[in-house]
Amino acid sequence: MGAPQELFYRFQLLPVHGIPFMKPIADNWDRIETFQAKPDDLLIATYPKAGTTWMQEIVDSIMNAGDLKKVKRAPTHVRFPFLEICNPSPVPCGVDVLEETQSPRIIKTHLPYELIPKSFWEHECKVIYVARNAKDNAVSYYYFDLMNKTQPHPGTWEEYVGKFLKGNVPWGGWFHHVIGWWKARAKHQILYVFYEDMKEDPKREIRKVIRFLGKELSEDLLEKICQHTSFKAMKENPMANYSAMPDSVLDQSISPFMRKGEVSDWKNHFTVQQNEMFDAEYQKRMEGTDLKFRCSI
Ligand code: A3P
Repeated sequence: MGAPQELFYRFQLLPVHGIPFMKPIADNWDRIETFQAKPDDLLIATYPKAGTTWMQEIVDSIMNAGDLKKVKRAPTHVRFPFLEICNPSPVPCGVDVLEETQSPRIIKTHLPYELIPKSFWEHECKVIYVARNAKDNAVSYYYFDLMNKTQPHPGTWEEYVGKFLKGNVPWGGWFHHVIGWWKARAKHQILYVFYEDMKEDPKREIRKVIRFLGKELSEDLLEKICQHTSFKAMKENPMANYSAMPDSVLDQSISPFMRKGEVSDWKNHFTVQQNEMFDAEYQKRMEGTDLKFRCSI
């Protein structure tokens, strides 16, 4: 029997160490927490909708020295096991998939810093963290929660802005996430990259990733990777645009996974009042950090 449609429903959120997670993640938390990392594991960590898929495509292109045939070997969700995800089949639990994955493993996670399994730090694993300005991140997450049939329905945009600011969404609050990982740079090998910088000068940011991974690539290959990971190319690439995921999980007729890929789309969504409320909370929550985003205020 194939996976019945009704296996995919909008999971309730349950707290794990104070952070709301979809029920299957909370139910399997002890397996996630005790996951055994290996020294050559690379983590790509993000708050959801910050540019994970884009960074994954960049890293895979670098690791395969620009050999696009290899990079197009499988869809994103197959190439990069998702550490904490634990949905009913056909999207198996990340920890199970990782046990069968050959090293070097490139692992996706949305976990906040403090919930990363300790073994990653014991082995001094490298992490690439992508952060995106709060307002665009909220807009992107709203559309994603509309089309992702496993996550709670976001409600109206008005309702969602409140939930996002309170961190009452899967994987918890944006502020806690971006600040936690920012501070963690002092202790671990973390390359902290901004989505807005990637949009401004993708080559410059890809060069940083190449250096961080200890690779060397020619300017021609850099150009090739830049083209291959452009929004347009990824939107058209079935191995990068999540079209391989069944509609019962991601319904792209509601909103495409590769939606707009722009900076400041929030200006098309926030009312003046929502913007003022968001800015007031933003200033309170970001006070005292030296983490600065462009385009947020
Ligand atoms: P939008 O919804 O604003 O379009 P994630 O991979 O973390 O789920 O993030 C998805 C967001 O990154 C979406 O944002 C998507 O369009 C954007 N994105 C994906 N690939 C991109 C690329 N190559 N260039 C710019 N944005 C990209």
